[in-house]
Formats: sequence, structure tokens, C-alpha cells
Amino acid sequence: MNIESIEFIGSSPSLSACPRRELPEFAFIGRSNVGKSSLINMIAGRKGLAKVSSTPGKTRLINHFAVKMSPGAGDKKAGIRLADWYLVDLPGYGFARLSKVQRSQFEGMIRTYLEKRENLALTFVLIDARLEPQKIDLAFMEWLGDKEIPFVILFTKTDKLARNQLAVNILQYKKTLSASWAELPAMISTSAVTKEGRLQTLETIARVMAGG
Ligand code: GTP
Ligand code: MG
Repeated sequence: MNIESIEFIGSSPSLSACPRRELPEFAFIGRSNVGKSSLINMIAGRKGLAKVSSTPGKTRLINHFAVKMSPGAGDKKAGIRLADWYLVDLPGYGFARLSKVQRSQFEGMIRTYLEKRENLALTFVLIDARLEPQKIDLAFMEWLGDKEIPFVILFTKTDKLARNQLAVNILQYKKTLSASWAELPAMISTSAVTKEGRLQTLETIARVMAGG
């Protein structure tokens, strides 16, 4: 399974400005500096697609990319329906350098999008694999759960950890989530450096599009 082409469609300051075309949509979100742009570039297989910034929190807009999948040999056999989808790069939350008012306006925009976007099929929540569970991420996932917005966790920057440390951190995350979740969300380990998790992420997208 692979991506045949990916094309930037546009940046929207609000839900109402988002593209009208009704493709299934897959959104990527996480704290500023979690490695979102790097991960999107890795998944897309295009280095300069999303900007990897040295100044965190630059993306304040909802960025749409149209993705075309290329049919692979095994795809038909597996019964995966291949269709175009939108990849959405959402602004990072918890950006410290915003004022309270700015931040709440900004978070309102993201929440409105997540709650109301009808063709949103799945949200990928990016979590830095090196860190202990952070309050802001846990609160965000609680909110997604309350609103019944389906999501999958993508652990980022896994190349920066030894395998056993990664396993320990993921276990810790599962323990923490188990305190408030009856059923844990799916989790995928990823790295923009080693390309770990690319296929698993694409397969998740294909599965959701196939209705599974
Ligand atoms: P903002 O949009 O600025 O909030 O950040 P972002 O979440 O898009 O993160 P970005 O992709 O810009 O990466 C932030 C920093 O982490 C950069 O210095 C990247 O080079 C680094 N980084 C991102 N992903 C990885 C990864 O998988 N492995 C390693 N080693 N470094 C990474
Ligand atoms: Mg970014």
C-alpha cells in the first residue's frame, strides 16, 4: 500500500472555510513540537510538504491535502476499497506563547472542527514517546472521548528511545489511560527518521475507509 500523489488544497482559518468536497478525512493533531509536520512528511513520502519549523506553534490554520492511494498487488485480495482522502494538518494545541484569550479562541476553532466536520473519519493524536503522560494530552483525549470522536494514538520520535525504554513508556501510557478508559485506543509507534509506523498508519486509514 502506498500513496500515489498528495496535493496541498488549502489552509482554512475556521470550519466554515474548509473545502466542501466530501472525501473521508483524517486529521493529525498534537502538542506543538510533537513532530507532526515531520510525521506528515514521512507518511506522505514528501520532505517539504508540511513545514518543519524551528519556531514551534507556527501552524494556526487547518491545512488540507488531497491524497490518492496507489493500488498495490495485495490490496484487491484484502478487499480494501481504495479511494481518495483528505489528510488534515491541524494546529498544535497547548502553545505557551499565546495569551489566554488567543488560546481559547484558537482551541475553540479546533474543537469546532473536530466536533462538526461531518466527513472526519479518524483523528490521529500525536504523543511524544519520550515523555511521561502529559496532562494536556490526557485532557484532550478525555474530551475526544466525551464527544465520541474516534482517535488513534501515534507515538512520535521513537528513534530517540531504546526499544526497551519505548516499551516501558507505552506500558506506562496504557496504565494511565486505563484509569479513565474502559477500552484503550489503538496505538502506533512512529518515527520520521526510521519511517517506523508508516505502513501501519496507512493501513489504519484504508481499514477505516473500507468501513472496518
Ligand atoms: P510545530 O508545528 O512547530 O508545533 O511542530 P511539529 O509538531 O510540526 O514538529 P516538527 O515536525 O516541526 O518537529 C519538531 C522537532 O522535532 C524538529 O526539530 C524535528 O526535526 C524533530 N523531530 C520530529 N520528528 C522526529 C522524529 O521522528 N525523530 C527525531 N529524531 N526527531 C524528530
Ligand atoms: Mg508543524
